[in-house]
Amino acid sequence: MAGQVYPSAGSPLPLPATYTKRHHRSHRGGLAGCCCCFFATLCSLLVTLILLLGIAVLVLWLVLRPIHLPKYSLDNVDVRSFSVGQGSTLNANIVYNITANNPNRKIGIKYDAINLETSYDGQVFGHSAIPAFYQGHQNITSVASELNATNFPLRASSATALASQIQSNSVPLFVRADAKVRVKIGSQTSSAFWVRVDCDVVVGVNPAQLISKSCRLKRRS
Ligand SMILES: *[C@@H]1O[C@H](CO)[C@@H](O)[C@H](O)[C@H]1NC(C)=O
Ligand SMILES: *[C@@H]1O[C@H](CO)[C@@H](O)[C@H](O)[C@H]1NC(C)=O
Ligand SMILES: *[C@@H]1O[C@H](CO)[C@@H](O)[C@H](O)[C@H]1NC(C)=O
Repeated sequence: MAGQVYPSAGSPLPLPATYTKRHHRSHRGGLAGCCCCFFATLCSLLVTLILLLGIAVLVLWLVLRPIHLPKYSLDNVDVRSFSVGQGSTLNANIVYNITANNPNRKIGIKYDAINLETSYDGQVFGHSAIPAFYQGHQNITSVASELNATNFPLRASSATALASQIQSNSVPLFVRADAKVRVKIGSQTSSAFWVRVDCDVVVGVNPAQLISKSCRLKRRS
């Protein structure tokens, strides 16, 4: 008897419940699709932008490649005269021969100025310069710079050491070249920056000769 009550009470209600549930679910699904659409558009825009940027970089690289640093070499140090005189004074006439090599196919280099200073035992006794010039693509240019020092006063101890080094024909000098450089790509020219080359050289005076050299290139701030 009591068993008959259960089926009649349980059966009528479940149907609408499932209906509303399903209805709600489909409505929510539409909203989520809209959100997804917005993000998808944003995503594809971003991807396109990144792709375009990548292509631009690739094209620039393909056009300019390979990008090389210019090379410099101190080919010759011609010591025409070099002597220590009365009162620890130094007289010198030296001609430097420097070769600049720009190996780039699309990059030109403008040298606004190149200044050289030469020192012995920490004392700068001579300055010389190389006038401004433009170096085109894949160009090798050699330039000369002449230094004259007249009665430069050395420290007495340095003068004594130098006199004996001149005797043994082995004089250590320090040469510093500072170049103001700009880079030209197509019609665009960069702003100027400084490049520094420091060289330790050993020269002979009589006979005049370049015995050894060791140079380092660096970017100066
Ligand atoms: C390099 O450039 C200099 C100066 O512009 C020029 O006189 C020389 O002919 C060029 N050399 C080469 C190999 O192109
Ligand atoms: C520098 O030295 C090289 C090789 O010895 C020579 O061919 C060139 O003419 C020299 N340059 C200058 C400007 O003296
Ligand atoms: C350096 O001195 C020599 C001779 O003493 C002279 O011929 C030359 O013109 C001078 N050079 C410079 C750059 O003053």
